[in-house]
Amino acid sequence: MYKSIIRPVLFSFDPEKIHYFTFSLIRNLSKFPGMKPVFKALYVVEDKRLERELFGLKFKNPVGLAAGFDKNAVLYNELANFGFGFIEIGTVTPKAQAGNPKKRLFRLKDDKGIINRMGFNNEGLEAAITQLKKNKGQLIIGGNIGKNTQTLPEDYTKDYLACFNALHPYVDYFVLNVSCPNVGSHAKLNDKDYLLELISAVQKANKTFRKQKPILLKIAPDLNHVQLDEIIELIAETSLDGVIASNTSVDRSGLKTSDARLKAIGNGGLSGQPIKEKSTKVIKYLADNSHKAFPIIGVGGIHSAADALEKIEAGADLVQVYTGFIYEGPSLIKQINKALLK
Ligand SMILES: Cc1cc2nc3c(=O)[nH]c(=O)nc-3n(C[C@H](O)[C@H](O)[C@H](O)COP(=O)(O)O)c2cc1C
Repeated sequence: MYKSIIRPVLFSFDPEKIHYFTFSLIRNLSKFPGMKPVFKALYVVEDKRLERELFGLKFKNPVGLAAGFDKNAVLYNELANFGFGFIEIGTVTPKAQAGNPKKRLFRLKDDKGIINRMGFNNEGLEAAITQLKKNKGQLIIGGNIGKNTQTLPEDYTKDYLACFNALHPYVDYFVLNVSCPNVGSHAKLNDKDYLLELISAVQKANKTFRKQKPILLKIAPDLNHVQLDEIIELIAETSLDGVIASNTSVDRSGLKTSDARLKAIGNGGLSGQPIKEKSTKVIKYLADNSHKAFPIIGVGGIHSAADALEKIEAGADLVQVYTGFIYEGPSLIKQINKALLK
């Protein structure tokens, strides 16, 4: 029903507007007393065999919602009824920011992809905390954190630390997002020495809390082997808890969408089916060359159960979806979990 009726209607509207419309719809529908059991019956697969234990956390199942969908942590309680094993909120930055000018979100229907240059539009740290205080505790919640666009390079670490310290009581794990192609800070966030400094600072802050929270690094799918080797070294040197591979890609090769349309769209990060292989290759490279030394969350172009299994086969311990959730609908989560049980 999603692909034959709901998706054609949703896809006939502006992508960003429909995102917020869908949010209101899910929130309002979830308020009806009978709806929660209906959503659960449709989408949730409960089975002990799906449970995963990773970096000291117990996940109900290995299929998560990737960052960027619930940036302001306003819908995770309702989204918990759609079968996810975990939900990552954010990217949250210390101060609220509008992000890039609209239009900044584009569907590439022929490629089953999305190009976005949202630019970390979010309501900021305080707003996220207000929402996280409403957590009903149904799922593992990840906090994906970043820096404000206006922040000067010498203050990047301060921004990450502000988010880390303030969100610490409210999320189960952290993700240092250093791979967004839309916030113009690439040189520094790709530099190994800087990443070492950033990770050490956040780990030091982590030790000041009674209970430490796992910290992961989210990387781009466009890193070459030398850069991936550096990531492996970095994780070994810092004993970071894991890697999320991957964020969106700046590569546009091999798309069915015309060059004219791509030119008209302009800059942005590509997600969905066109980045599937790229992100799987990154996962495989990290897993093989580190001899599976750290946990990996695999994300990028998962549109079917087979795509998820491919990521796991390549070395992912957990997977996340974003674009596939938009194109294939909420039943994708159930399909993946059922396939995992088989
Ligand atoms: C519209 C949009 C916004 C996103 N925003 C964020 C974000 O704020 N932080 C982040 O770490 N990743 C963000 N992502 C990247 C996704 O979390 C994911 O890593 C990427 O899209 C690849 O997965 P997919 O092919 O399943 O979409 C965003 C993706 C999209 C499509």
